Amino acid sequence: MQAESAPPIPYVNLAAQVAEEAADLSALLIKVVSRGDHVGGEEIGLLEQELAAQIGVAQVVALKSGTDALVLTLKALGIGPGDEVITPPNSFIASTAAIVHVGAKPVFADVGPDQNIDPEAVRRAITPNTRALMPVHLTGRMCEMDALSDIAEAHGLFILEDAAQSIGSSFHGRASGAFGKAGCFSTHPLKNLNALGDGGFVSTDDVALAERLRRLRNHGMINRETVVEFGFVSRMDTLQAAVLRYRLTRLPDLIAKRQRNAALYRELLDPRHIYMPPVRANTVDTYHTFVIQTERREALKAHLAAHGIGTAIHYPVPIHLQPAAASLGYGRGDFPVTEQQASRILTLPVNQFMAEDDVRRVAQVTNQFFEQAA
Ligand SMILES: Cc1ncc(COP(=O)(O)O)c(C=O)c1O
Repeated sequence: MQAESAPPIPYVNLAAQVAEEAADLSALLIKVVSRGDHVGGEEIGLLEQELAAQIGVAQVVALKSGTDALVLTLKALGIGPGDEVITPPNSFIASTAAIVHVGAKPVFADVGPDQNIDPEAVRRAITPNTRALMPVHLTGRMCEMDALSDIAEAHGLFILEDAAQSIGSSFHGRASGAFGKAGCFSTHPLKNLNALGDGGFVSTDDVALAERLRRLRNHGMINRETVVEFGFVSRMDTLQAAVLRYRLTRLPDLIAKRQRNAALYRELLDPRHIYMPPVRANTVDTYHTFVIQTERREALKAHLAAHGIGTAIHYPVPIHLQPAAASLGYGRGDFPVTEQQASRILTLPVNQFMAEDDVRRVAQVTNQFFEQAA
């Protein structure tokens, strides 16, 4: 194989996405800008309705980012000092940061082999101060929502889904973002439904919660004269809402391509050397990322890079071991599964612009690495 002379396979390919959409996007952006409704406007309300219909909830509230979605929802639910929220230590930092920002205490529960929060570990982490569970559907693979819903119900806890990576995923026929009191999504450029900058939204069936979020995102105002509480500026930009409405129509195709790539990896990668979370019946995984686990992660990453194949690590340092988390009082050894995975996980490219041959090449170069080592 002439791997060195083959074109590189980037881990993400945002330039290809924009190139494909350039004509549509420029017409759309000019149309929205020339209307003059740069803040608010009909694009926001329409996007909210379309997302709510897709997720199967009563309300969606569009916000400035996924992080704001988490922070404002926790705040709107009245979670604050003295309260504990259970979440995994292997997420993106924003999940835990949101809990800290409302003055509550993040309590970590370790994950299972598939990197998602382990319901048994959640059970053990519950105390009289626990108010909410914040499962994270990492990689676009949903957590075990039946078990988590049972725990939440038995203990009277909110579920706040961190659905930042799981737009379009479902578990037993129900969409991510439709299980909990609320689902918090990100539309950051690296997400499957991505804006041309930051963005996020909250899904919920609770109309009062949605109203409070609409107030909080706009200075706590209910009209131009009346401020009923001190709020924030966390409105999604109208332009981003227009981009997201356009991209929402393309999302099924994008997800299908990523699923096709993932299925091919599953067929080709040698399971003697690589762990991949198994596919479960009656669930839809959307492959925000395709993460494998191997003892020889660093060497494999270097081998792939030498063959022009881009990879990433989500995430190399668990949250409980970050300097920012020192005051939470955790230490090395507290979450052995997370810690072991942090040294074994490797994200392979799975983006929608990969041709079948690209996926075959990544799999071949990967398998070749283990064969050479044997
Ligand atoms: C699991 C998770 N939670 C929260 C966030 C925060 O979203 P944002 O970057 O839009 O603030 C992200 C993404 O960045 C994420 O991956």
